[in-house]
Amino acid sequence: MTTPIRLFLAPLFLSLCVGCSTWSRIDCAGLITSGRDGWQHPERVVEVLALAPGDRVAEIGAGDGYWLSWLSDAVGPTGRVYAVEVDDEKVQALEERVAEDGLANVVVVRGDFDDPKLPDGGIDLAMTVLTYHHIERRPTYFRALRRDLSARGRVAHLDDRPDVSAPFRWFQSEGHWSDPEGVRDEMAEADYRLVATYDFLPLQSFQVFAPNADVARAGDAAGESRP
Ligand SMILES: C[S@@+](CC[C@H](N)C(=O)[O-])C[C@H]1O[C@@H](n2cnc3c(N)ncnc32)[C@H](O)[C@@H]1O
Repeated sequence: MTTPIRLFLAPLFLSLCVGCSTWSRIDCAGLITSGRDGWQHPERVVEVLALAPGDRVAEIGAGDGYWLSWLSDAVGPTGRVYAVEVDDEKVQALEERVAEDGLANVVVVRGDFDDPKLPDGGIDLAMTVLTYHHIERRPTYFRALRRDLSARGRVAHLDDRPDVSAPFRWFQSEGHWSDPEGVRDEMAEADYRLVATYDFLPLQSFQVFAPNADVARAGDAAGESRP
């Protein structure tokens, strides 16, 4: 949606939100006026994930690369961002975007549907955004991903929630969501525990998991100890 159309629609949209709280109305207007940043709040997501220079982050299902510049900035020149994709056209487009934007610390990875092809013990944070529900056999997938996590490795899932009310629902793709409780159940099945949950995103659940300690991981073997 172009900016003039967004600005034209914002007051109309705001008036349709009469049943919402004041803050919801402001958020609604933000959805229209700011495009994706208005509902995705990428700077706040990156802030609460507390990424540090030198961290190694993987985005599984990087799509068109919306997150790459945010993640690249957060981990800095000594860090690494792995942009994992299974779609060949997206892999090529991501490689072009990374080159054009000069994102020297980003590596595009052609993953498999059941294997992200990440370095063993080499990932401090794996994240999925709007991708969790696309992954098949999720408990198996995320159990296997444990091998790729460092000793302090975490997994963050941001996905559309099925329970948002109109007008927020109009910004979602019907059926392309996951039930947050179902995500927790499947991650528990994959042997993770919930370590954080955030509720500032109007459309999405945002949950962070850490693997339970009882399975040895490559990062443990490497002797990493940062909490
Ligand atoms: C809705 S897009 C989300 C893109 C991006 N995360 C964003 O927030 O803009 C979902 C992406 O996940 C990719 N995908 C689906 N299954 C995958 C898997 N098993 N491993 C990696 N990527 C996957 C799809 O090709 C698609 O590009």
